[in-house]
Amino acid sequence: MRVDIVSIFPDYLAPLELSLAGRAQGRGLLDIAVHDLRAWTSDRHRTVDDTPYGGGAGMVMKPEPWGEALDEVATGRPTIVFTTPSGEPFTQGLARDLATREHLVLACGRYEGIDQRVVEHAATLGEVLEVSLGDYVLNGGEVAALAITEAVVRLVPGFMGNAASLLEESHEDGLLEYPVYTKPATWREREVPAVLLSGDHAAIARWRREQAVRRTAERRPDLLPPSAVPGGGELRHAVPADVGELYTLQLCCWVQEQHANPGVRIPALHESLEDMRRSLEEWTWLVLRRGGRLVAAARGRIEDDTWDVGRLMVAPDLQGQGLGRFMLAEIESVAPPAVTAYTLFTGAQSLDNIRMYKRAGYRLRGEGPPGAVRLAKPRR
Ligand code: ADE
Repeated sequence: MRVDIVSIFPDYLAPLELSLAGRAQGRGLLDIAVHDLRAWTSDRHRTVDDTPYGGGAGMVMKPEPWGEALDEVATGRPTIVFTTPSGEPFTQGLARDLATREHLVLACGRYEGIDQRVVEHAATLGEVLEVSLGDYVLNGGEVAALAITEAVVRLVPGFMGNAASLLEESHEDGLLEYPVYTKPATWREREVPAVLLSGDHAAIARWRREQAVRRTAERRPDLLPPSAVPGGGELRHAVPADVGELYTLQLCCWVQEQHANPGVRIPALHESLEDMRRSLEEWTWLVLRRGGRLVAAARGRIEDDTWDVGRLMVAPDLQGQGLGRFMLAEIESVAPPAVTAYTLFTGAQSLDNIRMYKRAGYRLRGEGPPGAVRLAKPRR
């Protein structure tokens, strides 16, 4: 594979010489060349930028040096990658795709970006991709080019010693990787999970899969295939923008509870919007949207080794369709590994709720706050 990188800061790319990519170059698998864009300037000041047409802050990279550089470097119909925060996200899938290409040209933008006509011109020389490292803004595309090169080059056949380790790592199966441990089995009174010492390969594989799914649900729910939501919809971890709708749904749902439990002081009905905002910071919240509308939610947090479940709510017009049961299973599934039991409170007179919790495996475990009962179930 041939990789050409064009930048106004070629020294930024020096680490490529040190890393694995440097070693692969030594073995003839890879040929990387870093070019200084200013080599294609013709004025005394080696100018690469100018003010934007239409006004606005910052500078734009001039088309002439980029045109000259690409004409010289992007020969033989390469894949030309412009690194820009406005690009498509760089993912393991894209890395796999790029690893199949013979020739990559990485064009590192700086300032407010490169004159768009350069991108159009590049499309006459090869396939063009505009790629972003993530949803944040760097000072330039060099760090993105480094990251892209490293992620791509290690997938080139023959590059990595152990092909099996490539298959087992984060993102290769669409999930985050399970936690890993090495010797000693006890370190500072912390034990390695017993299953990993059991020698039972099937049990180990099951445990790893479960951990990978749990980690992904907790940290990157967007990577999980959409849950089979009864009746359709999208399940997500709550974000601050959900606060208003959550607050409205909570008030509406607990008015019903108040009717079922007259005279009981229900905390959910006495909270402010600010309390709800704080609750989003202190608890793990899941929200379910259907057709854009927030229709159900639940929250959980760990107390000792118990997952404290609460605020299970479903919009009144959608109750009785299995959404409550679904949200309960989902909020249980995002409990951290240390959890050994689930617990929750509901109104002592909320008979429909109690029936639903019992069907989900909960049992009454005594009184809660006045007018409420506590239910619990062990984690399987
Ligand atoms: N240049 C500046 N920010 C960037 C980003 N997030 N990804 C790629 N190139 C960039």
